[in-house]
Formats: sequence, structure tokens, C-alpha cells
Amino acid sequence: MVILKSKAEIEEMRKAGRIVAAFHQAIADMIRPGVTTLDIESFAVRFLKEKGAKAYTIGYNGYPYATCASVNDVVAHGFPSRKPLKEGDIVTIDIVAQADGWVGDSAWCYAVGEVSREARDLMRVTKECLDLGIEKAVVGNRIGDVMHAVQTHAERSGYSVVRDLLGHGVGKEMHEEPNYPHVGTPGKGFRLKEGMVLTIEPMINAGKAFMTVDADGWTARTADGSLSAQYEHTIAITSDGPVILTAQ
Ligand code: MF3
Ligand code: CO
Repeated sequence: MVILKSKAEIEEMRKAGRIVAAFHQAIADMIRPGVTTLDIESFAVRFLKEKGAKAYTIGYNGYPYATCASVNDVVAHGFPSRKPLKEGDIVTIDIVAQADGWVGDSAWCYAVGEVSREARDLMRVTKECLDLGIEKAVVGNRIGDVMHAVQTHAERSGYSVVRDLLGHGVGKEMHEEPNYPHVGTPGKGFRLKEGMVLTIEPMINAGKAFMTVDADGWTARTADGSLSAQYEHTIAITSDGPVILTAQ
């Protein structure tokens, strides 16, 4: 069942969204060679506590951390680690906060120092995929319209879109219906309605779309070892167009 949100509820959801956005702004300056993703995790735990928000992912299906830290070939759900980030890495930090009962979910990919042209291009195109998807997230369009824009831009750039992890509704819970991949056909799929709150969170691989999951049960990697990037926002579908609840 898709739970539509009233205008007042969407206003209430802004708080969690703003906390997530402020977190990403704060870590942008922190991420450099030598920093560990466990340092970022500790910062996240303190930051959320200070803002009066709950770290939603701790204990979610047994997930142990407030953040996911996905370095280089890790597509998503990487565990924060004590291994220092090094010059040239790219790292996607994903965080889900719950405030006043409502959830905000946003992932952002960061360059560690100077990165290769290949990494820089992948990050740019992935962010463009998110932005092109958001543009299409208007009342009356279908999810296929949104994801066709994402898929086309990624594939024209020579990249592939991960199929195995899905976008989702967001509300009092992190994962609500509907669920959908980041590929699609114009005119197909569910219609976007006023009051839907959804993530758009393309995971784009420099190589093939296939991924594997490590023995830890979480860490998703590209099967071919290629780089992967992700940007994610939580979006409200309104009569005035898409509202980015996690905008920085
Ligand atoms: N942002 C992720 C998503 O879109 C949530 C982290 S999943 C976790 O589903 F379970 F690993 F925490
Ligand atoms: Co999400």
C-alpha cells in the first residue's frame, strides 16, 4: 500500500530531510586522505544525537551502523571501516535519519583528494542522472518516465545502471511501497501522485550492472570490479513539482 502524505505531513518531513542535508554538508569538508569511514560514522552518530534525530539504520535488518560507506567498487551498503581513505578513492556515504517520527534518506558520493578523470566523470554523470530523474518527478508522469531519463543518460555515457537495489517510498519508515529499479520505459509503471514521497537513488557502474554481496551479507560490489557511484535524495511529489526534502 502506498501511503500518500498531506501537505502538513510533507512539511513535518522537512526536519529529517534538513538534518540529513546538514550532515552531508558537514562531512564534505571532513573527507580527505587519511580519514576513516569509521571517523565519519562516529561523527554521524554524534551529529544525529545532537539534532535529536534517530540513526534509523542501526539495527535495521541487523545493519550495525548509522551510515553506509561504499568505497570505489562497492555499490552500496558498505560497512564503515578503520581503513583510511586514500587519495583517488571515491566514497558514497548514505545516511537515514528519523526526526519527529519521519524519515529522511540521502546518499552522496565524495572524491577523496584528487581523483582520476574516470572517477570524476562517473560522479558527474551519476549526479546528472539524479537531477534528470528529479526533473521528471512530476504529478501525472509515470515512474518509467523518471527512470528512463536516468537510464538513458547513464547508458549514453557508457555506464550501466544497477538493477538489484531499488528506490522506495519514504515516510514513518525508511522503506515503504512502492519499490522500483532505476531503469524504465516512458509511459510505463505507476503514476506519480501528489503526496507521494520517494527516493531517487541511481547506482551507476563504470562497467557492467552486475553486483555481488560479500560474506558480511551487506557489502554490494560490482561483479567486474569497476567503480560505482551513487547520489540519493528523498523527494516529495507535489502540485508545485518535485520538492527535494534532503536538499543541501
Ligand atoms: N539508503 C538506503 C536505501 O535506500 C538505506 C541504507 S540500507 C541499510 O535503502 F539497511 F543498509 F541501512
Ligand atoms: Co534509500
